[in-house]
Amino acid sequence: MKNLSLTQRISVYLFIVVCVSTFILNSAFFVVLRSQSEEQFKIQADEILSNVSRYYQIPLWNLDYNAISEVTNTWLQTRSGVVAIKVTDETGGLIIEKTKDNQKLETLLKKPYLLLRKEKIIHEERQHIGYIEVLFSNADRVEQNNLTYMKSILFSLVFAFIISLVSNHFLTLFVHRPLKNLIEGTQSAHNSNYTIRVPENAAGEIGILAAEFNKTMNQIEDRDRRLHKHNVELEEIIRERTVELDKQRATMINSSRLAALGEFSAGMSHEINNPLSVIIGKSSILRGLVAKGKIAPEFEIHFTKIHEMCDRISKIIKNLRSYARDGSNDPFDFFDIGRFFTDIGELTRMKLDKRGVAFKFSNNSNTTRIYGKEIPLSQVIINLINNSADAVEDSEDKWVHLIIESDPTALYIKVFDSGNGVAEIVEKKMMTPFFTTKAIGKGTGLGLSISKSIIEEHCGELYYDNSQKNTCFVVKLPLTNQSV
Ligand SMILES: Nc1ncnc2c1ncn2[C@@H]1O[C@H](COP(=O)(O)OP(=O)(O)O)[C@@H](O)[C@H]1O
Ligand SMILES: [Mg+2]
Repeated sequence: MKNLSLTQRISVYLFIVVCVSTFILNSAFFVVLRSQSEEQFKIQADEILSNVSRYYQIPLWNLDYNAISEVTNTWLQTRSGVVAIKVTDETGGLIIEKTKDNQKLETLLKKPYLLLRKEKIIHEERQHIGYIEVLFSNADRVEQNNLTYMKSILFSLVFAFIISLVSNHFLTLFVHRPLKNLIEGTQSAHNSNYTIRVPENAAGEIGILAAEFNKTMNQIEDRDRRLHKHNVELEEIIRERTVELDKQRATMINSSRLAALGEFSAGMSHEINNPLSVIIGKSSILRGLVAKGKIAPEFEIHFTKIHEMCDRISKIIKNLRSYARDGSNDPFDFFDIGRFFTDIGELTRMKLDKRGVAFKFSNNSNTTRIYGKEIPLSQVIINLINNSADAVEDSEDKWVHLIIESDPTALYIKVFDSGNGVAEIVEKKMMTPFFTTKAIGKGTGLGLSISKSIIEEHCGELYYDNSQKNTCFVVKLPLTNQSV
């Protein structure tokens, strides 16, 4: 019973209820039938007795034993219920005693059916001529009734079985299947599958339930879709904001670094420029003395060298001051390519020389001017050269090549180095702020991301060209008509 479905249970209950109720009805009917048949049996017995006594009058009067025997046989054979007849004369002397089918009287009396013994005096011409005693049995009726009862019980069983089969069929069709669909739908909804829908053609409340279920699924699916869309939008917004924030943080850090460097180099240039101008002044005096012949002419070359070196120092300091300035708010303007790269060379030479890195510069373009913000652009190129200087540190052959190329639309500043190139995983992330593979204190992860922003401000591109044999970073700047 435990494993039965609801509809099967209902069918079983129905079967039991129909069985029990038809059994009770049948039994009640049978009880009434039995009592009625007993009554009838007694009445019939009386009727038979009075009838049969009349048939014996003449044969008994004539003492015609053959006729008596014939009458007895006829009554025993033809009348149901009559099982034995005994006829005696007026003195009680036995004339005939016969049982149906010659059964023994004792066995007949033992039978559990209702046995009725009736006797009657036989008269002829108002004269007592004998006795008749008839034994009645209602066995036939009882057996008949019992058979009817059994048949009706059997019929009830078959009827109950058919009723439960039919009800099971309809319950399965109208209740079980639609409910099963709903259960499957709910289960798949538990597993977050909201695409499932159930047929709504079931009758009555189950049909309404199915329609409501589908409506709820529609709503959930719709809400899910909207939620997912919101999530995607939100994630996109967060990603954009994070990138923006990182960029702002990077710019702020860079600006404050530049401000500190600017302050430092301003102080330093003041401190160096004063003694430097004294040295330049004095070396000019000495060169004047050579010209006047007061100092031997072979010293001229040394004084000139001192003068040149001092000039270089003062230039470097000037460049450093301008490099360390935050030029992000400077206006766009044209500036000379030659001077731009010479200044960069001056500023980077010291670091490269110190590390034994050979530096080569080739200008293969015929462009003479660049349109943009000179200081931020110089910061970009110096960043790239510094990265290259770091990358070649462990190489045997250390070199950095700066090559300028151009086509009619753009200027390409390419920084090559003899390092090991950029690993694919680093390549993907290196332009994002704060990404560095260098030791703490050595790298900040700001160089490339800030350089990229600066170049994008110039409507150009900064990218790593992995098609080259050596490491190659490219700054591509669009050329305006006046640049050439
Ligand atoms: N020329 C190069 N060769 C190899 N790797 C480089 C080169 N330039 C940059 N990278 C990689 O890109 C990373 C990010 O560079 P950058 O933004 O300048 O930050 P940082 O120099 O402070 O690490 C570096 O840490 C390095 O891994
Ligand atoms: Mg760097």
